[in-house]
Amino acid sequence: MSYETLIVEQTEGVTMIRLNRPEALNALNSQLLGELCAALDAAEADEAVRCVVLTGSDRAFAAGADIKEMSTKTYAEMFKQDFFGASARRIEQFRKPIIAAVAGYALGGGCELAMLCDFIIAAESAKFGQPEINLGVAPGIGGTQRLTRFVGKSKAMEMILTGRMMDAAEAERSGLVSRVVPADQLIGEAMAAAAKIASQSPLAVMMNKELVETAYETTLSTGVAVERRLFHSLFAFDDQKEGMAAFVEKRKPDFRGS
Ligand code: CAA
Repeated sequence: MSYETLIVEQTEGVTMIRLNRPEALNALNSQLLGELCAALDAAEADEAVRCVVLTGSDRAFAAGADIKEMSTKTYAEMFKQDFFGASARRIEQFRKPIIAAVAGYALGGGCELAMLCDFIIAAESAKFGQPEINLGVAPGIGGTQRLTRFVGKSKAMEMILTGRMMDAAEAERSGLVSRVVPADQLIGEAMAAAAKIASQSPLAVMMNKELVETAYETTLSTGVAVERRLFHSLFAFDDQKEGMAAFVEKRKPDFRGS
């Protein structure tokens, strides 16, 4: 499948999706989000794909929702089109891991898109922010909720009310990103993490992803109970037998996803 706003590359077990609207710093318009959903559908359907890396350019992961596309919309249009709702749900419901590899600006919808991924690896050049207040609006793809969960109320409130950006070091300190790497190592580090994930049991990977997500959706005691059930259920798979036998036999496991 070919895309106009994305560059999609396959390597063994990993799909890399690069946002590609350089003229607009990868601003998220309807076409780009539609193509992103289609690329995720294809990655979901392909059993050979075990992990996705989502990235942008050196200058921008994405500078937000496309302000030019949005500027003339009415409330009725936004509501009828469920503006960005369907795309956000598609990414939320993607069952395989998605790593955001962020260099440059991740602002507004760009920051929200990165937070929709399972974890964020940032280049030293990364800048995160929710500057919607400067446009007289609010974040619309989960920014007020997810940023607050990541960095806490005080920092989220300050960033959202003032539009202040956070650099990569502050983002790491605050728990928004898993780690910061030199810009020229960003893709290599993200692809290495993706390859490591791709080498694991895909069943265990999906269940682990669901379990960490559960921590955001439920109480501790319910989450721990769900974890125990899924932990037990993993013993129904051949991959558990293979993983533990390989450890005992001092060899590399050969996970088949069964
Ligand atoms: N939408 C549409 N076009 C955008 C854009 C956006 N979000 N961000 C940048 N662009 C365009 C610019 O208009 C410019 O295009 P032209 O050359 O045709 O004028 C091009 O990208 C390059 O941008 P700049 O010249 O502004 O580059 P800069 O280096 O001077 O500044 C920047 C970079 C600080 C990121 C600045 O572009 C900026 O502030 N962008 C807007 C950021 C923003 O407000 N994002 C939130 C959007 S609203 C949102 O996302 C809502 C939501 O939650 C769903």
